[in-house]
Amino acid sequence: MNSGPILFCGDPHGVFRHIIAAAHHTNASAVVLLGDMEPQRPLHLELAPLIEQPVWFIHGNHDADSDELWMRIWGSELADRNVHGKVVELPNGLRLAGLGGVFREAVWYPSASAAREGAPAFRTREEHARTTPRQDRWHGGPHRRHWGTIYPEDIDSLADLQADILVSHEAPGYHQNGFPLLDDLVRAMGVRLAVHGHHHDALDSSGVWEVQGFESRGVGLRGVNALWPDGHWEVVVPGELDAERAGRYRST
Ligand SMILES: [Fe+2]
Repeated sequence: MNSGPILFCGDPHGVFRHIIAAAHHTNASAVVLLGDMEPQRPLHLELAPLIEQPVWFIHGNHDADSDELWMRIWGSELADRNVHGKVVELPNGLRLAGLGGVFREAVWYPSASAAREGAPAFRTREEHARTTPRQDRWHGGPHRRHWGTIYPEDIDSLADLQADILVSHEAPGYHQNGFPLLDDLVRAMGVRLAVHGHHHDALDSSGVWEVQGFESRGVGLRGVNALWPDGHWEVVVPGELDAERAGRYRST
């Protein structure tokens, strides 16, 4: 097993070179992708140089944007490395849980100002698929696009599990576009560290860690952050928009 850190990789959007380079030069023990990979080839081919670094990922909203992208992720030889809705044990013993996708009003947008005052239209994919015209279903599920959507069943099943780290595409409540509901999930799971992508920023939320009861980290566009075995966090590759966005937003 490699002795280096776990790498958390913010939305690659089709670019993987920097991830492979970072994994090799840090001697990473594992590589975790935070969604919106949008690989230009099947994901296992994009990441083929990672021979000694086990890979896990969650899908993002854009990974279900086209039939081709869907196939490069869900049809890839790494498909079973999608940690959405489950907990896996990393080589260093830490338990990693995942929540891929995003909240969408057509299914569920948990906010009082949203459609149905935040109540879900469907609780499960199966329920959604049943009301989806047969020709619009995708591999027995709802429309392909909704493979990148969060359903209440995803939260419900994760809430029964315990983990050390949760990776999600959506952000917890500290973020201005995040969801307090995810804070409840993180706490229910006993998670100590929540890492997310999607927003292409890496805001400093350390001021609320004590109140919210867990550490939260955003990894920006094509950023790579490392969690070293001694617990320290390092920005290996800053997100491409991190500096610009840190000045625009304030997390409270
Ligand atoms: Fe995204």
